[in-house]
Amino acid sequence: MKSTSNIHLEIKNSTLYLTITREDKLNALNSSTMKDIDQAITYAAKNKEVKGIIITGQGSKAFVAGADISEITKLTLQKGKKFAQDGQKIFSKIENCSKPIIAAVNGFALGGGCELAMACHMRVAVKTAKFGQPEVNLGIIPGYGGTQRLTHLIGKGKALELMMTAEIIDAQQALDYRLVNYVVENHENLLTKCEELLHKIYEKGPIAIAQVITSVNAAVYQSGVKGYQVEATTFSKCMTSKDMKEGTSAFLEKRKPSFKGK
Ligand code: COA
Repeated sequence: MKSTSNIHLEIKNSTLYLTITREDKLNALNSSTMKDIDQAITYAAKNKEVKGIIITGQGSKAFVAGADISEITKLTLQKGKKFAQDGQKIFSKIENCSKPIIAAVNGFALGGGCELAMACHMRVAVKTAKFGQPEVNLGIIPGYGGTQRLTHLIGKGKALELMMTAEIIDAQQALDYRLVNYVVENHENLLTKCEELLHKIYEKGPIAIAQVITSVNAAVYQSGVKGYQVEATTFSKCMTSKDMKEGTSAFLEKRKPSFKGK
């Protein structure tokens, strides 16, 4: 897949770098950008050359400053439902992707931007990044999964506080709330930290990584007994892979494993 007018795509050292390139609009997600992101994730999931994905925004000001408000203003009851469902579907595709996806948060991650970052498996932010779900300022609420994922990530009390007050928090607060995994000093460190995390993951068996993603998502969405059942099923699926044999044998033989994703 080639870059579009909304996103730049580049594969380097097994990682797909997906950069949203609407810098003049603070990388706001209009529907054509959402479509492009959707296609890029499908492409990356299938492409054997790609082992993981970094999603970021162009420039130093914004990761993504939200869904495009100029489109939201035209929504009706019916169109609003479809708008949310379509967005949720794309962000769920990110969350359920079998390859690791990290949000490199280079600036404002507001509204749909915070939702996009939360749909990724991990978040690394620059010190100057800002997070928030300020939708109530517009008389609306998060519609791309934010009410669910923010609650999962930071707990009900703080999630309600952020969504009801529309408060924008800085990267250090986001780290304190566990909304982000790491905060780095500057933009140069941002991709390096994401790459470091991804390359640690690339050394592991891709089948096991995919099953971790499935199981952790199940822990959130199918908590209790069902989540444990899913974990047992996904755990057992690993047992049928050559990677499991290789990984366990390598440990026992005191050597580095060589995983083939089979
Ligand atoms: N949708 C559409 N356009 C957006 C946007 C969004 N979510 N966020 C920013 N933009 C556009 C602005 O309209 C402006 O476009 P223009 O130059 O054609 O007028 C451009 O991006 C720059 O934004 P601006 O507001 O001038 O920058 P700022 O530095 O004064 O403020 C923010 C930065 C992030 C505080 C401010 O842009 C903002 O509050 N954005 C909306 C955040 C939000 O509510 N997100 C949830 C949406 S559901």
